Amino acid sequence: MENTEAVTKAVNERYARAVVTGEEMCCPTGYNYEELRAFIPEPVIKVSYGCGTPVGLSTVQPGETVLDIGSGGGIDCFEASRRVGHNGRVIGIDMTDEMLALAQLHAPTVASNLGHGRSNVEFRKGQAEAMPVQDHSVDLIVSNCVINLSPDKPKVFREMFRVLRPRGRFTISDIVADQPIPNYLLYDKDKWGDCLSGALPLQEYWNGLREAGFLGIHQVSFVPWRVIDGIHFLSLTLTGYKLPETQVATGPRFATLTGPFSRVLDELGRTYVRGISEPIDSQAAALLQTHFYQGLFELSETPIGFTASDSRWVAVLPEEAPCAWKGHFALLTGPFLEVGDDDHHRFQLGVPLEVCSKTLKVLQSISYRSHFVVINRASRVASHEAVACEPSDGCC
Ligand SMILES: C[S@@+](CC[C@H](N)C(=O)[O-])C[C@H]1O[C@@H](n2cnc3c(N)ncnc32)[C@H](O)[C@@H]1O
Repeated sequence: MENTEAVTKAVNERYARAVVTGEEMCCPTGYNYEELRAFIPEPVIKVSYGCGTPVGLSTVQPGETVLDIGSGGGIDCFEASRRVGHNGRVIGIDMTDEMLALAQLHAPTVASNLGHGRSNVEFRKGQAEAMPVQDHSVDLIVSNCVINLSPDKPKVFREMFRVLRPRGRFTISDIVADQPIPNYLLYDKDKWGDCLSGALPLQEYWNGLREAGFLGIHQVSFVPWRVIDGIHFLSLTLTGYKLPETQVATGPRFATLTGPFSRVLDELGRTYVRGISEPIDSQAAALLQTHFYQGLFELSETPIGFTASDSRWVAVLPEEAPCAWKGHFALLTGPFLEVGDDDHHRFQLGVPLEVCSKTLKVLQSISYRSHFVVINRASRVASHEAVACEPSDGCC
């Protein structure tokens, strides 16, 4: 849209109206509503407009300080309140007065239902682009279908980095697209409010987080949502970390890629080839010790190399069979910038690569699936005729 104020005004009016109408909006979430209804009042549930379950993913630990960006009616804040317990606290920020008023109205009931003496949730009015939150004060940021609505997403990502403590992390669910949004949709006011026009291509979203300073950015889950004029909109939940800047002298000094990839380019710009030990500095060591990287590398004090006969070597080979092109495209979702498999493919972060049925099967295996989003761009059922592939081709 024309300018940032116009976007903010349109989004603000849209969500203020939704509090009154309680209209159905947005996307698949995956909540266990039965569980939530046991302690969250119905008016809050009714205006739940998220596109994932960033709090329900067991990411929240007891005693933590959690920040929810764009808290709306408060559903995720209240779920986080339950998970952080008596010793934790939750801050929800939102720019829409009507949403804040609804959330504040129901906070005492939720506290009482949870057996908290007083509510550990505080709702603050504010913009995601300039959050009313102290520097380095938050353990975990969650957000549910909000950042796509912001007219200045890089600013939101920088704000997230500012307020997190070193070793802090985020888990956010948001709508992203498989390609840039054309102007006729970008300038459509209603589609901004619908969480469509403001959706960034996956690669741009990921780069924005990376440029803000986050590392270890990876997919937690995804759900295909809508296809409009050939553009695929996905609900994607991502996690990433603010790693400490201070370098530590102790810890692993070498890393060996175990697989399933044959080669990767990591977020720090370093290339690893499976089985070959590489020296690492303390920043790389801290990164490779984060949760999602575990199992992808063997970390050691001294160089350790291994070959395909070693039990640590992980590979998923494609079946020896003809393949069929059915319209599938795979997008790498991190934490690597680029990966190679065992069948000549080179996947780049967020760049759709057409894959045949044989490769699809590989990408659906346990080792691969959490690294990719797969969409189908065929507008009709594609021919299932199998074709023979040359081994040197990009696919299959
Ligand atoms: C799609 S709703 C999601 C609400 C809530 N996270 C949920 O899951 O129900 C988006 C919410 O974000 C708020 N919002 C949108 N853009 C914002 C911004 N730039 N700064 C602060 N809040 C914003 C809206 O007021 C609205 O309450």
